[in-house]
Amino acid sequence: MPLLHTELCDIVGIEHPILQGGMGPYKTESLATAVSNAGALGVISSIGMAATLLPDVAPVDALRLFGTDPPPVILRKSIEAVTKNTKTSNGVFGVNIPVASEFIFASEMFMRETIEACKADSDIERSLRVIITSAGNPKPWAVVKKEGFIWVHVAGCTMHAKKAEASGVDIIVASGHEGGAHVSWDPVHSMVLIPAVAKAVKVPVVGAGGFCDGQGLAAALCLGAAGVQIGTRLIATEESDFEPTWKQAIIDREERNTLVGRGLFGPMRFLRNTRAEDIVKRTLKDVPNFFLGEPVESNEEILELERTGFDDLINGKSDTALMFGGEVVGRIDDLPTTKDLIQRIIKEASMILKTVPENVLRS
Ligand SMILES: Cc1cc2nc3c(=O)[nH]c(=O)nc-3n(C[C@H](O)[C@H](O)[C@H](O)COP(=O)(O)O)c2cc1C
Repeated sequence: MPLLHTELCDIVGIEHPILQGGMGPYKTESLATAVSNAGALGVISSIGMAATLLPDVAPVDALRLFGTDPPPVILRKSIEAVTKNTKTSNGVFGVNIPVASEFIFASEMFMRETIEACKADSDIERSLRVIITSAGNPKPWAVVKKEGFIWVHVAGCTMHAKKAEASGVDIIVASGHEGGAHVSWDPVHSMVLIPAVAKAVKVPVVGAGGFCDGQGLAAALCLGAAGVQIGTRLIATEESDFEPTWKQAIIDREERNTLVGRGLFGPMRFLRNTRAEDIVKRTLKDVPNFFLGEPVESNEEILELERTGFDDLINGKSDTALMFGGEVVGRIDDLPTTKDLIQRIIKEASMILKTVPENVLRS
């Protein structure tokens, strides 16, 4: 079987063209380690960002999801742990820093901590190669390049992708509306978004939203991407740090079982349960033009629904737990190790890319 290799592998220094999506505010330390050890790019998420921003959102119970240290300390410990545990495989990894304007002071804190961690330790500097900015304007964040990182930015439309390219990013993640958690108020799905962004910019594009297997990776490459970024599928792996209730919910759901509503950080795709339904009902209350694109601000009622949803997740209450996930849940039905999953994706994509032309091209 030929080796599946793209320019994404060369730029980032990974064996397989797969990035783990940042999945804040949750801890993704052991997932990032497993993904990087499997030859793809593991990513540490903006752990506990919600706790930093709005202490009220993080009741005592929910803090167990993030750890009890202040967020910068959790981040530093995660960076050190992933560096140590990927040393034997020479794995590289990244940190995701959402840069939404409402929470800029938290973004600055995460950025500072990441840069300082690299300066303080040459092992960290060698393996922490990538910063993925998302959920906001990349322009003020040129420090990422200046400090020598590979700069990836997540965009949900061609206009934002072009702005990111003009800001100097190295790689753009084109993130389609079927993806888990962070989505855009203006829905554009991967099938349209990826080729549109690939045509609009010169830098390599990574497809995100709806990818879980080799069929998806092969399709993304055919649409002009240099690889895929995966979120939901990686939650349901043996090593992932997520709660067992959440992993099982992903395995149990079919593709219709997600809903988009207003979350703390903007529009979010939730796994459908009574918690998600209540958030969507509250999102739509008093906003008659929601489906015409009128954005909704967060409010106390939504925050309270999220707060209790965090608690119910910790306590294993599947029907009222706050859980995010993409439409791709309908295509996920097992709990593999991360390594098996990544090898399966690469093997299947390579097979498809080899056999489909043989089967369909006639001379
Ligand atoms: C639980 C969860 C949390 C997420 N949090 C973040 C985040 O903090 N920052 C970000 O850029 N993307 C976030 N995302 C989006 C992922 O990085 C990724 O782009 C998305 O999951 C891809 O779509 P998929 O879920 O269909 O694989 C999150 C996704 C999930 C499922």
